[in-house]
Amino acid sequence: MRPYNITDDILWVGAVDWAARDFHGYSRSPLGTTYNAFLVKDEKITLFDTVEHEHKDAFFCNVAQALGGDLSKVDYIVVNHLEPDHAGCLVEAVERMKPEKIFCSPMGQRNIASLYHHTDWPIEVCPTGHTASIGRRTLKFIETRMLHWPDNMLTYIPEDKAVISSDAFGQNWATSERWADEVDRPTLLKVLKEYYANIVQPYSPIVIKTLDALAKMNLDVEMILPDHGLLWRGKDCAWVLDRYREFAQARPALRALLVYDTMWRSTEMMIHAVADGLAAEGVPVKIMNVKRDHHSAIVSELFDSGALVLGCPTHNNGILPGMAGALQYIKGLRPLNKVGGCVGSYGWSGESVKLLAEWLEKIGVEAVGEPVKVQNAPDHEVLRQCVDYGRGIARTLKDKIAALG
Ligand code: FEO
Repeated sequence: MRPYNITDDILWVGAVDWAARDFHGYSRSPLGTTYNAFLVKDEKITLFDTVEHEHKDAFFCNVAQALGGDLSKVDYIVVNHLEPDHAGCLVEAVERMKPEKIFCSPMGQRNIASLYHHTDWPIEVCPTGHTASIGRRTLKFIETRMLHWPDNMLTYIPEDKAVISSDAFGQNWATSERWADEVDRPTLLKVLKEYYANIVQPYSPIVIKTLDALAKMNLDVEMILPDHGLLWRGKDCAWVLDRYREFAQARPALRALLVYDTMWRSTEMMIHAVADGLAAEGVPVKIMNVKRDHHSAIVSELFDSGALVLGCPTHNNGILPGMAGALQYIKGLRPLNKVGGCVGSYGWSGESVKLLAEWLEKIGVEAVGEPVKVQNAPDHEVLRQCVDYGRGIARTLKDKIAALG
């Protein structure tokens, strides 16, 4: 890659990770990702963030190319976020660039000490409202706590009407294009949503507050430059802000996700019957098996579903380990406004359905009706009960959608 001119003075100097499939050790990134870093050439040459350490050569090469080969021309470094996918080259950057100042949030200063063990850097702490001049431009810092860590902040540059937004508004998609308006729109929306569902979703109430606070600031914005994926310009800025508000509001969709595991296919038959009941009431369904579908793909589907149905047989007085892992992951992401239920088969002790019901409660899913369980294999009558159970969940989902407008 080479540096990319966003404007005459603002350059993209990040790295494209075409091979990334595992994001942060817990989520999948099937289309790869990018680590975006930016260089602003003003009287004080200012670098915004770095990249994941594995891509340090591409990053330092890009910065060097932008500065005629001389990394020491960098005067300031803004650290919008300390997570290693953005600060993975920070220590080496500080050593090689010897910046006069390093700007970060108050929580960022703590993370520089605890993650990178440096307390002797020339840090200027930037709570919301703090500003810094870099010559013809002013940097305005706004903390965006929990989007995605406590230390995140964004930087607004009024002279360029630009927001360098850190994780917020990012997507995992490796592309040669840099702007969102240059790529396939449905894929863009899909990756934006996947990123939100798996990374930002637990903090949806904070997202709403942050969007409200930004709206009150009346910032004139023509570019939003996140640290992952495609960059937003023009009318796309309002579009992506609207999408984030929509995501955070989590209005239930007329769609059901059925997630299951099975040993001898009894639970699988029950799940298919529940799906038939949902579909018969006009609710589109998707069925995912925890052995075949990664938990982050399940969460992405759940994000677009107003109903969640779980199915798992009893195994050693519990549930199968793949289902337990998926449920732990789903719970951590705190999905909102779902209805649902559970079914399962058993051989002799039969705890799984009770345990699944407890998981639904912990996740915050509104349970509908009486879960269906069966010893060994379902017969026609049990499958009919499952169909009726699906119909009941569908009707409750439609009522909830109607109630929430
Ligand atoms: Fe892209 Fe929170 O790191």
